Amino acid sequence: MSRRLVRSRRLPSVIDAIGNTPLLRLERVARSAPGVEVYVKLEFANPGGSVKDRPALRIIKDAIADGRLTEDRILIDATSGNTGVAYSLVGTALGYRVQLVMPANVTKARKDITQAFGTELVYSDPMEGSDGAIKIVQKLVAEEPDRYFYADQYSNPSNPLAHYHGTGVEILDALGDRITHFVAGLGTSGTVMGTTRRLHEHTRPVHCVAVEPAEALHGLEGLKHMESSIVPAIFDPSVPDEILRVGTEDGWDMADRVAAEEGLHVGHSTGANIFAAVQLAERLSQEGRGGCVVTVACDRGDRYFAPMKWERRYTW
Ligand SMILES: Cc1ncc(COP(=O)(O)O)c(C=O)c1O
Repeated sequence: MSRRLVRSRRLPSVIDAIGNTPLLRLERVARSAPGVEVYVKLEFANPGGSVKDRPALRIIKDAIADGRLTEDRILIDATSGNTGVAYSLVGTALGYRVQLVMPANVTKARKDITQAFGTELVYSDPMEGSDGAIKIVQKLVAEEPDRYFYADQYSNPSNPLAHYHGTGVEILDALGDRITHFVAGLGTSGTVMGTTRRLHEHTRPVHCVAVEPAEALHGLEGLKHMESSIVPAIFDPSVPDEILRVGTEDGWDMADRVAAEEGLHVGHSTGANIFAAVQLAERLSQEGRGGCVVTVACDRGDRYFAPMKWERRYTW
């Protein structure tokens, strides 16, 4: 089946629109690296608008398959971001209730998107950040273990598996032996862990680079500065071949550049991914090696209209 037909197929459920995202060549922002191709996988084309639709679907399907999630249980997790939207979308489509715990001070937009799906929100102490939200989930689950399925994206192996069986396979399907490098940011680390494991199994070597914020206090939402964070259980530092650190300003500026030059309005973690991919491409070009670098567009820029740009130093 041609790629055109794959994109225009008829679907029985919204969950069948998850995955098979397009791969776009970046011509303009990568022109500083002649001889090297740079591609970005457009994960914002998933129906929930982000890369997190993949792990949410796999987490829910795997839990249904082995009986951890049943119709009388509520899926619960601590998230105010893209994963919350993804759980809400997949949960609704498959007929399961979703409850999210988030700090009371998250933006109205974030509360509104998830509530639009019928998701119940529980608010935690804004002074305790995301750790406070996690503590409340753990307390609720401990009090009524039979009532909940705790999805726990940071520890759930279904998260990287979604990328092992999805993102990695799709990249190889699109590019085959052409791909030489893969670059993606570390949040839960699911994207890097799963995709890298699949690309490392390819018959030709693929050098896989993890992107981390350069500073502990950063404005690259979705990414984690591992040294100063609670390290996700699914993160294995021996999996990526290299770690590149990207500053908040560089990520934000690249997000502005790809909007202005490529017509692609992306979030700041995507700006950081593309900044690192272009830096790597320039290195290869200067060494006269050529290559094909693939990175990921995690979500769209309109998810960040609040807080506004003047809050660039906001810490997530
Ligand atoms: C905007 C954004 N970028 C990057 C990531 C990181 O992806 P992963 O959790 O697979 O490491 C996330 C994950 O929450 C995200 O929401």
